[in-house]
Amino acid sequence: YELKDINLPSNAVWHKCTVSAGDRADLLQQVPRCIWLTGLSGSGKSTIANALDATLHANGIKSFLLDGDNVRHGLNKDLGMTENDRAENIRRVGEVAKLMVDAGLVVICAFISPYKRDRQMVRSMFKHGQFMEAYLDTPLAICEDRDPKGLYKKARAGVIKQFTGISDPYEKPENPEIVIDTSKLSVSEGVRQVLSALAQ
Ligand code: PPS
Repeated sequence: YELKDINLPSNAVWHKCTVSAGDRADLLQQVPRCIWLTGLSGSGKSTIANALDATLHANGIKSFLLDGDNVRHGLNKDLGMTENDRAENIRRVGEVAKLMVDAGLVVICAFISPYKRDRQMVRSMFKHGQFMEAYLDTPLAICEDRDPKGLYKKARAGVIKQFTGISDPYEKPENPEIVIDTSKLSVSEGVRQVLSALAQ
């Protein structure tokens, strides 16, 4: 495992901007955050993320949703599902989320993000308290039963290789700020759980 080495041009320097991240947050009158949803395919990440985004928006909070499937249509369409490509996927999304947080937004990210070290890498990009990990702890059997895109069926048949939870690992978070089992909670209860963690 190794991240692609990106060489910084030798004469690149960091320009300090006059308007700080704090100034931008003050203008928007909100506390920027990154809420990172991790979990198996079919665990409910996109559903909870979308409902959370809609709730925040309806309450006047400037939010933005980055969803795995969607980001893989554009920014990350050159990446596959190997361990290295998943790491690069998460690294790029982390950087984008960081820029959006610096712009003052509440950013919701919904990615399987199966590897602890990748999630840890993203967490380390943010200031303490800015990043919240929400683990969608829906049992594999339930995710497989839902199979909304028919991917588990294909994975079991060997048509899709390296499928998370079947033929590829998912490393459970050890200390997530939030744990949601969507087989026990409704969508609105899941959203409420994230909102109460945010309020704290
Ligand atoms: S990762 O692991 O975080 O880089 O994955 P992510 O960017 O979230 O993309 C997950 C979506 O890709 C589809 N898909 C697969 N998932 C898991 N394993 C394999 N091999 C795979 N191939 C394609 C699938 O639609 C995932 O979306 P969700 O919403 O999780 O079901």
